[in-house]
Amino acid sequence: MTKSRITVVIEIFLTALLLVSVATVASSQALTREQAEQKARDLLRQMTVEEKVGQLNQASGAQSIGLSAQKSDALVEKGGVGSILYATDVRAINRLQHIAMEKARLHIPILFGVDVVHGYHTIFPVPLAMASSWDPSVEEQAQRVAAQEARAAGIRWTFTPMVDIARDARWGRIVEGAGEDPYHGSAMARAQVRGFQGAALGPDSVLTCVKHYAGYGAVEGGRDYDSVYVPEALLRNVYLQPFHAAEQQGAGSFMSAYVDLNDVPASGNHWLLTEILRKEWGFRGFVVTDAGAVEGLVAHGYAANPADAAYKALTAGVNMDMASQTFTRNLPTLLGEARITKKQLDAAVLPILTVKYQLGLFDQPYVDESKPEDSNERAENDALARKLAGRSMVLLKNDGHLLPLSKSWRKIAVIGPFADSASDIQGGSLDELFHPGARNPAVTVLAGLRNKLGADARITLVSGPEPTREYPSQLDAMLGRKPATAPTPAEIADALGKVRDAAAASDVVIAVLGEHWTMSSENESRSTLDLPGIQEQMLETAAASGKPVVLVLQNGRPLDIRWATEHVPAILEAWMPGTQGGDAVADVLYGDVNPGGKLPISWPRAAGQEPIYYNHNLTHQHEDAPGFTSRYWDLNSRPLYPFGYGLSYTSFNFAHLQLSRRSFKTTGATEVSVDVTNTGSVAGDAVAQIYIHQRSGSASRPVRELKGFERLALAPGETKTVKFPLGKAELEFWSPQTKATQVEPAAFDVWAGEDSTASLHAEFTVTE
Ligand code: BGC
Repeated sequence: MTKSRITVVIEIFLTALLLVSVATVASSQALTREQAEQKARDLLRQMTVEEKVGQLNQASGAQSIGLSAQKSDALVEKGGVGSILYATDVRAINRLQHIAMEKARLHIPILFGVDVVHGYHTIFPVPLAMASSWDPSVEEQAQRVAAQEARAAGIRWTFTPMVDIARDARWGRIVEGAGEDPYHGSAMARAQVRGFQGAALGPDSVLTCVKHYAGYGAVEGGRDYDSVYVPEALLRNVYLQPFHAAEQQGAGSFMSAYVDLNDVPASGNHWLLTEILRKEWGFRGFVVTDAGAVEGLVAHGYAANPADAAYKALTAGVNMDMASQTFTRNLPTLLGEARITKKQLDAAVLPILTVKYQLGLFDQPYVDESKPEDSNERAENDALARKLAGRSMVLLKNDGHLLPLSKSWRKIAVIGPFADSASDIQGGSLDELFHPGARNPAVTVLAGLRNKLGADARITLVSGPEPTREYPSQLDAMLGRKPATAPTPAEIADALGKVRDAAAASDVVIAVLGEHWTMSSENESRSTLDLPGIQEQMLETAAASGKPVVLVLQNGRPLDIRWATEHVPAILEAWMPGTQGGDAVADVLYGDVNPGGKLPISWPRAAGQEPIYYNHNLTHQHEDAPGFTSRYWDLNSRPLYPFGYGLSYTSFNFAHLQLSRRSFKTTGATEVSVDVTNTGSVAGDAVAQIYIHQRSGSASRPVRELKGFERLALAPGETKTVKFPLGKAELEFWSPQTKATQVEPAAFDVWAGEDSTASLHAEFTVTE
């Protein structure tokens, strides 16, 4: 599984060649930001109020923009549309673009945007899965392919990356982000921006939109769209970190969230959009609201009416109104009444035009409709999707080395409603809704097992009933999916009987259980984390057969798997692994890929533990303290599996934790190094993780904070020394007392190891 040195050298050479050629192509067309802005200023001077307001309008709808075709064409011709959401038909894109470029007075191209979250044709693992790779290059490679495929289909703007920190698995959108940690989440955010935009925004880029700014992941009770109360210190030290990282990586646009943050809706929040984003961070791109969020300021009870909402959003720092037309309908009047100024309007329009110039849209506004699908490219992308899916899986349990499975077991019982579902293996994103038919055919787990084991293996599938839900799914309704009806007692008995028979006749049972993809998504919050439907009964029935059982989880959020953890010997978290997910699962189950993914979230035992995260503060009565402790009396308060955790088919040892300096000034730094050895007999990937704790200071600091990680490929017996800096970037934090971000003099702990419970420990001191 380790690459030979020669392969690595060839890969480096080819990558360098590619970078040089990309740089040459891009530099022949790309404008500097200053050049682009100058052109934008020149254009702005020629624009009428209506044309300016038009640039701030993102219309929604594929062909018709929510209006009749005639009206939409007329609106584009008048310059009334800056961007269109969800247009995915290349002919419609070109038709509208031709109107904008040829019939509209100033020939300003439309920016077409869609949510390309984890792939366009080739669907990669869901974002939470890719984050489990603990390898930012996984995100970067996947998003580069997503960008190429989307761009070839005329999409120049994606509403990605979603960088909301999520510490509560009840929230359905946990699937779209990188989990609970700001350091890890920042690395994943940067990688995604690089993947879509390249090194800098230019003609080869797909523009990123960092969302949902900010605090959305902290909705109360994990209920989507609910209120968010996050104190400034937590916001700055945790929730804002990945946003800032993406901004520093050059992300060209931000999306303001639906939610209200500490009573002020994010889409009308001057502090967030102007004070922090533009003044503190120096962001020069543009802000689009989430869909309908300008109008939504009225629903929040923040704006008195749509005109007031337009006023509050624009003056807070919103540039573009996604889909509510509140700007279009109200800004001209607000300007006429002098409630907003021409200067404010121009300031909103300028970065949108600048980005359009940076993207080269004025020179190349159209999409090539004749571009035939390149089968070589498709095969390469599928191969990459399979590889990245394998890198994203997390082995949670493997008692008695049940995995990898022996291929000599020819009779396999596969159970579960998701084992042969092409849409569920690809997971949640809006693409099924807004660009149907775009996805490459998917390999389910059942198909992957058949591919791996050959035609003579006897594989029996028992799907069982599809899980039902208390309330219908909005997504299901939009997709025209009929909600499943609850199985009758006779149907349950029948399904369990089939599981019993299949298990009895098999050498091994592979249970593929989890959630339907629409159960982990926007508007899909849950009050429990149980395996939905009768899946757990199916698992119990299979286990009662006495046959070895492997649980493969196919889900978008951690689930309550306490029973499985106690009774099932092997558990593989495959997440929703994408187009090639089934082959990737088979690769891991049969040892062609050694799993190396790690959890980017603390895995709860039960929903009642939520929110749960490793980087909480100490309390005066923490769980290890004697007597009164902070815990439940009916449940262990530790996670079932800790943040950073994941097994391998080999084992690793961490030793020789060293610091280049044990004492240094607040302006100084140290370097921590640790030796990681593969102590097993097969090659495998370890993830070296470094955690720190500041023992005292102007504020309480988390018990542990991740401050470095690296995924390492190690041959059996091989040792690698990994080094991480610990300086200003790693040690500083924003203090609610000093109201400043700084390194404080204090004693620190540092740990190195395989997960957030690592015990290899050292200390250092930072002095004045
Ligand atoms: C979601 C965003 C998404 C937008 C456009 C909204 O409902 O919250 O994440 O980008 O729709 O599809």
